[in-house]
Amino acid sequence: MFASKVGAVLAAAGSAVGLGNVWRFPTETGTNGGAAFILIYVLFMLLLGVPVMVTEFAIGRHGGENVSQSFEKMSGGKRGWRWMGMLPVVSGFLVLSYYAVVAGWTLYYAYVALLGGFEGKVPAEFAHDFVTFSADSFRPVLWMFLIIAMTCGIVALGVQKGIERGAKVMMPLLFISILVLVGCSLSLPGASKGLTFLFQPDFSKVNGSVVLSAMGQAFFSLSVGLGCLCTYACYFRKDIDLMKNGLSVASIDTMVALMSGLIIFPAVYSISGLQPDAGPSLVFVTLPNVFQHVFGGIPWLAYIFSLVFYLLLVMAALTSSISMLEMVTAYFHANLHMSRPMAAVLVSVVSAILGIFCSWSFGDWKDVTLFGMDFFDLFDFLVAKLIMPVGGVLMCVFLGWVVDERVLRAEITNQGAIKSPLYAVYRFIIRYVAPLCIFFIFANELGLFGLLK
Ligand code: PHE
Repeated sequence: MFASKVGAVLAAAGSAVGLGNVWRFPTETGTNGGAAFILIYVLFMLLLGVPVMVTEFAIGRHGGENVSQSFEKMSGGKRGWRWMGMLPVVSGFLVLSYYAVVAGWTLYYAYVALLGGFEGKVPAEFAHDFVTFSADSFRPVLWMFLIIAMTCGIVALGVQKGIERGAKVMMPLLFISILVLVGCSLSLPGASKGLTFLFQPDFSKVNGSVVLSAMGQAFFSLSVGLGCLCTYACYFRKDIDLMKNGLSVASIDTMVALMSGLIIFPAVYSISGLQPDAGPSLVFVTLPNVFQHVFGGIPWLAYIFSLVFYLLLVMAALTSSISMLEMVTAYFHANLHMSRPMAAVLVSVVSAILGIFCSWSFGDWKDVTLFGMDFFDLFDFLVAKLIMPVGGVLMCVFLGWVVDERVLRAEITNQGAIKSPLYAVYRFIIRYVAPLCIFFIFANELGLFGLLK
């Protein structure tokens, strides 16, 4: 169990806040046209993200042991629902293996910052350095292994000692340093163009793929739809207000994402030669530039700030990768009767091997594609745009239609102790809005509406 209420919120927030906010959000916003994408993303956060999160919390806490058992217990003993326990297993491997690649990049950048390697460089050099590093067949793989080893160490230690304590220290620190960086970025010359990109929507750029991407980003950023938060919720105490918890996590998460946008895009427009749709490299090229530009006159300040920032980013990535590893480890521990450390090591090794293929997608294996995507993009697509929405909708349908309404109400309202009009709204969303919404988006992607015409 998480020892405190704050610890539970922070651990869930730790899972949610990560590279999805600081790296994936700006990348997606940049390639999908800016402000209009952000608006749709925020809408999906409220309409789908938060309800699915509360749903995962309710299922997990009701069972209290592990995801398979939770589904069975909540359905009133229908054994078939145990299979939902496989969702976190399959998706955990997929998501951890490519996430660890990017987390490895951040660890490498922290190391470069430690050696003072950013000093005196110009924008073109940062871009060149990143491309050479990420395309290397050996170095990024090594850093990815390191991240997985660190993640494995923490998960093997267990819930309270590892996960909760870590989240409590790191989350607030990250928040403060992001705030400082926003200030820095906004003070750059030409920053206002970045603000226009972020906040002036141009709806002519919106199409089916932008909508799907916005939905994928909302799910990914909140870590919902895979059973990850369901796993954490197994360790929640009975007096935690699930709806309030879900809303707090989503607010923190959205704020960090928007602030990351406020760091990246003003800087992109202020530094010549950078484009907002540069893709995965965006963050790794712009950020070092911001440090040099803003603190460049005072080298020791630039040094300290870049070091602290990358270290915090590594920690944000770790609190997320921990939750990914935990969801598979918990399953192996409970269902295959393995010890926690043993399960954690096994899952780590397999993910590390898959991670090699994802890392090589930026170099030697750039042209090895499946369905027109390299491994890295394919894994990301499968997780964010397929498994998360489908998993999310399955869980909503489960709670909204399969589970006895009295059981649902008792779980969400803590046996009637919480009297909130939000319960009715929540139930309406999981029964009707979420399933229909996801159905329409997929139908559109598959071209069904075109056929109707
Ligand atoms: N939400 C995390 C992030 O923003 C990523 C994540 C996805 C974590 C799925 C757990 C499960 O970085």
